[in-house]
Amino acid sequence: FEWTAESKATIEEIVAKYPAGRQASAVIPLLDLAQRQHDNWIPLKAMDTIAATLDMPRIRVMEVATFYTMFNLAPVGKWFLQACTTTPCWLRGSDDVMRCIKDKLGLSKNYTTTADGQFTLLEVECLGVCANAPVVQVNDDVYEDLDYELTAKLIDDLKAGKAPEVGSMLGRKGSMSKDGPT
Ligand code: FES
Repeated sequence: FEWTAESKATIEEIVAKYPAGRQASAVIPLLDLAQRQHDNWIPLKAMDTIAATLDMPRIRVMEVATFYTMFNLAPVGKWFLQACTTTPCWLRGSDDVMRCIKDKLGLSKNYTTTADGQFTLLEVECLGVCANAPVVQVNDDVYEDLDYELTAKLIDDLKAGKAPEVGSMLGRKGSMSKDGPT
């Protein structure tokens, strides 16, 4: 694993935000950067590179990487589905969302990936968008107010290479759409 020229420029900007000698504080943004550069997951070699870049022990990088669940330490699909099943989402139909993911993609266990490498499932706790439950996060985007049919449409759109509109699938208020709360 090596940083791209673009990543190196980004690292300079990130590290400059911290006091001299405190560059290890940039470990979280650099883990995020490594994950984005490397198909949405962080191999051990990337942790070595981060340790060298920030002049810190590799074990310290690993401690952080293994603590935060948003860092993927194994390969995931092109579309990483994080389906919320905490109580508000469950009360509003997350069972139907999970059933649809199983029917359409054959995924029901955490960190399983479709044979074509396109989709990986992870069942997660509250994503903080309960007002428009149930929700699924796809990579960085959150899709809200899902039911069985809308989840099926979302999956079909992703398969077709379309970028579905982020936010409430019903246009409800309080959504996480790109324009912020409406
Ligand atoms: Fe699902 Fe809060 S319970 S977003």
